[in-house]
Amino acid sequence: MKNVVIKNLNYSYNENTPVLKNINLEINQGEYVSIVGQNGCGKSTLCKLIIGLLEKDSGEIIVNGLSLNKDSIQEIRKKVAIVFQNPDNQFIGATVEDDIAFSLENNNIPREKMITLVKEYATKVGMEDFLTKEPSYLSGGQKQRVAIADALVRNPEILILDEATSMLDPAGKQEILSLVNKMKLENPNLTIISITHDIEEAYLGDRIVLLNEGEIVLTCRPDELFKNSELINQYNLSVPFIVQLQKKCQELGYQINDEDTLEKIGEMICQSK
Ligand SMILES: Nc1ncnc2c1ncn2[C@@H]1O[C@H](COP(=O)(O)OP(=O)(O)O)[C@@H](O)[C@H]1O
Ligand SMILES: [Mg+2]
Repeated sequence: MKNVVIKNLNYSYNENTPVLKNINLEINQGEYVSIVGQNGCGKSTLCKLIIGLLEKDSGEIIVNGLSLNKDSIQEIRKKVAIVFQNPDNQFIGATVEDDIAFSLENNNIPREKMITLVKEYATKVGMEDFLTKEPSYLSGGQKQRVAIADALVRNPEILILDEATSMLDPAGKQEILSLVNKMKLENPNLTIISITHDIEEAYLGDRIVLLNEGEIVLTCRPDELFKNSELINQYNLSVPFIVQLQKKCQELGYQINDEDTLEKIGEMICQSK
């Protein structure tokens, strides 16, 4: 099933300067799509259009079979959850449990059920020991984990991460990436749209969409993009570490396949010594 269908979408903040130009994109249920592109190319604008925070100039956005318009917007927002880049701006509750409960409160859920859900989702993101902690006790990575619990407790069909790891240190970033990986395994139907600057992160997706100056210039599997040095140079992209390593080892004469992991390559090099 197609979860998100975008047809001939155009958007500009100011007349005369189009920000998104004729965007066409289809995302399947359960797919993990990374959207990459230079600063200012329109990634966040695209997210805001998908959840109806901005109103398109022309084209169509269909979420879970519903065409986005004034009548469907509330229904669509129930299906889409978004995590933004700044962990501090998203923490609303006084404690972790309050914060997660806050995401549920509008839904008239009985108190008992709410307590169970808060615990369940805090556990999913590995924050069960921090339920009564205030945000000042938490690291950036921990706050983003809570933001992801806030998003998931609403049981969305689609999770959008808009540079959700960009303000985190390497450890915090790694925490979130393993969490996303775990969520994907637990719930194969969850569609993930991950907007990122980080090429290592983009490499984790099933598919990469490359935006350049408001246009989709490429959509393909991550390994297809990163093996193509012409595209890499043309769009000034960096190359994930694993792909660089594979290439270097192949040049040195090792029999490396594109699927070989870091561990496998390490073993191979050690054995050849
Ligand atoms: N509220 C706004 N008003 C006017 N222009 C904006 C606004 N927000 C973003 N822009 C412009 O739209 C373009 C795309 O921005 P954005 O979608 O935030 O890019 P990205 O997320 O890829 O960095 C940029 O040129 C940016 O300056
Ligand atoms: Mg952005």
